[in-house]
Amino acid sequence: MGISKARGDFPTMRKGRGVYLDSACQSLRPDSVIRAMTEYYEEYPGCGGRSVHEMSARVSLETDETREKLASFFGTKDPNCCIFTKNTTESINTVAFGLGLKKGDAVVTTDTEHNSNHVPWLVLAESVGIERRYSVSGADGEFDIESFKSRMDSGVKLVSVHHASNVTGCVLPVKDITEIAHDSGSKVLIDGSQAAPHMKVDLGRIGADFYAVSMHKMLGPAGMGVMYGSQEALEELRPLTFGGGTVGLATYGRADMAPIPERFESGLQNYSGIVGAKAAVEYLEKIGMDNVAAQDRKLMRRMAAGVSGVRGLKIVGPEDPDRRVGAFSFNIDGLGSHDVAMMLDRIDKIMIRSGMHCAHPFYESRGIEGSARASVYLYNDDGDVDRFAKALAKVAETFGNH
Ligand SMILES: Cc1ncc(COP(=O)(O)O)c(C=O)c1O
Repeated sequence: MGISKARGDFPTMRKGRGVYLDSACQSLRPDSVIRAMTEYYEEYPGCGGRSVHEMSARVSLETDETREKLASFFGTKDPNCCIFTKNTTESINTVAFGLGLKKGDAVVTTDTEHNSNHVPWLVLAESVGIERRYSVSGADGEFDIESFKSRMDSGVKLVSVHHASNVTGCVLPVKDITEIAHDSGSKVLIDGSQAAPHMKVDLGRIGADFYAVSMHKMLGPAGMGVMYGSQEALEELRPLTFGGGTVGLATYGRADMAPIPERFESGLQNYSGIVGAKAAVEYLEKIGMDNVAAQDRKLMRRMAAGVSGVRGLKIVGPEDPDRRVGAFSFNIDGLGSHDVAMMLDRIDKIMIRSGMHCAHPFYESRGIEGSARASVYLYNDDGDVDRFAKALAKVAETFGNH
C-alpha cells in the first residue's frame, strides 16, 4: 500500500475536519481499525479466556493472534512477553511498583521525561526512599551520553528513559544505553510511546528488559497499551493488580499465580482495543515503517523550511529537523502557547498541542512557560504543513512581539 494514498483511509481526513497536527498526543485511526473494533461489538462481543462458547473462543483466538502480531512487529520471539495494558503510564507503573525497589536503590532517568516516567519514581523516592538520578541534556534538549554514564554505578537498579521525546522529538541511543546499564548490573525500561509510531523498533536488537508503547499513538484504539518484558524480567516482576484472570487456582488460604502474560492482565480486558491494536499493526506493516519514517522526515523538513521566516519564532529542541522525530515544539515571542494554538485553530482549523506536554520539569528547569507543538504522522501531507506554516506566519505577524 502506498503512503501517498494512506490519507484516504482516515475518516476525519476524508471529511475535511481540518489539519490534524496533534498525533504525538493521539493519532487518527484508519477504517480498518474502526472496522475491527466495530466488528468485535457487532459479531462476537464475548470475553476471552473464560467461557467456552463460540463467541468467547473467537475472542481468545483474536487475543492470541494480536499478541503474535505484536511480537513479530516489535522483533521479539515470544508473544507471551507482550502484556496488554491501558497505556504507557500503566506499563511504567507496573514496572516501577513491581520491581521491589528498596531504600537506597538508584533509578536513573533523563531530565526530559514525560511525567509518566517521572512521577512514579518520585512517589517511590517519597514512600520507599529510592534514590533519583537524572542524566542532564544539552541546551537544545538533546541527550548527553557522558552525563548519563556519569550517573551509573552498581547502586543503579533501573535505567528508565524515553526512546523519543514528546517535547524535542530527539531520539535516544537506546541500544547503547541498554548496554551501558546492563554492564553495571541495572535493568532497563524504555518508554517507547513516541518512538514506536515513527520507526522500526527491534526489541531483539535493543535488548531492553522492558519496553512500553501506547497503541493510541500508533493508529490503535484509545486506552490500549502494550508492555513488553523479557521472560526473565517478567518472571521477577510482581503484578500491579490482582484478582480474576491473574491466578491459576485460589483457595480461601492462598492463590497460585497464573503464568505470564495472564498474571499481569487482571479482570476483563479491553477486547475491542486488542483487536483494534492488531488492525493498527497490520496497517503499519502494510505501509512499512521505513516509509513512515521517510514521510515523517520529509514533512519535518518541509515544516522547518516553511516556518524559517516566521517572526519571533523560538524552537524548543534542535534546529535541525532531521534530529526531531515527528514533533516540532516552538514559541512565538510575545504570545503564550495556548494563544498560538487557539489562533491556529480559529484561523484555519489547524489542531496542535500547547502547554507543558506533561514534561513539567523540563520547562520549569529552563524557565519556559510551555510551548506549542505541531506533530505529524503518515496521513499528513505537504498541504497540511504549508497551511500550518502560513497560518503561523500570520499569527506571529499580527499578534507577536516584534
Ligand atoms: C514520552 C511519553 N511518555 C509517556 C506518555 C504517556 O502516554 P499515555 O498517556 O498513553 O500513558 C506520553 C504521552 O504523551 C509520552 O509522550
